[in-house]
Amino acid sequence: MSDYASVFRDAAAAARYDEEVFAAGGWAAEVDRRQRARLRRWVGEAFPPGSRPVQHDFACGSGRTLAMFEGLVAGAHGYDTSATMLARARRRLPGAALHLIEEGVPAEPVRAGAPVLVTAFRFLLNAPAEARVAALSFAALALPDPSSGYLLVENHGPRGSLRAVGRRRHRGQRWFAELSHGEVADLLGRHGFAIVDRFGFALAPAGTYSRGWSRPLAQVLDAVSDRVPHAAIATDVVYVARRFDSTYNL
Ligand SMILES: C[S@@+](CC[C@H](N)C(=O)[O-])C[C@H]1O[C@@H](n2cnc3c(N)ncnc32)[C@H](O)[C@@H]1O
Repeated sequence: MSDYASVFRDAAAAARYDEEVFAAGGWAAEVDRRQRARLRRWVGEAFPPGSRPVQHDFACGSGRTLAMFEGLVAGAHGYDTSATMLARARRRLPGAALHLIEEGVPAEPVRAGAPVLVTAFRFLLNAPAEARVAALSFAALALPDPSSGYLLVENHGPRGSLRAVGRRRHRGQRWFAELSHGEVADLLGRHGFAIVDRFGFALAPAGTYSRGWSRPLAQVLDAVSDRVPHAAIATDVVYVARRFDSTYNL
């Protein structure tokens, strides 16, 4: 099992993810709050009235992204390699169907109706190459053609954002990765997906929310930027993608 997958099997790490990474008022919680508002609106715009999608959330963890769309979907399925994270998701979302999957074994989306919304949040950035391929192969299976629905992918470490200011300080640190918009587009393109839209959810880097002096500045910057499109230079981006090629060879 990769280091990345094994980290989240640990109960203390899983608790830290929910309670420290997503602590109220911190960068991740604020991004989550803005994502929730914008993406719930987006679901209403993307899927015609009366056709609520079935959500398949790859690497669902403790259920954050399933919770984001609660009440808007016709079914909610979460897939993850960590029983620890899934136990947390089960407590949060008793109505969701949660599936323990095995790293290295291709995961099959449950056939549960159409249209389909596949989500993969806070995953691509730090996951090893094979796990990225597994996520997108899963998405391609769930979304066999352009009319099947949409894929939403979060990049919580875009290159070319203010996050780069902290790059030197984080050099050598295990979890400081960067992923450019071009790299995400290439990865998706190799699995038959084209990015059709993208949303930015912050301009300030995460660290600015954890220091007393910079937090108010970061909050103002992000509140203002939330009103204008800023995905190109955002520190958190969600891409909207559709299949362009149903002949992609899995
Ligand atoms: C950073 S968490 C993200 C959780 C959730 N998507 C969110 O946005 O809050 C990453 C999750 O990926 C899961 N994971 C790691 N490797 C995986 C793999 N190869 N396949 C599926 N899930 C994996 C971990 O168990 C963990 O729950």
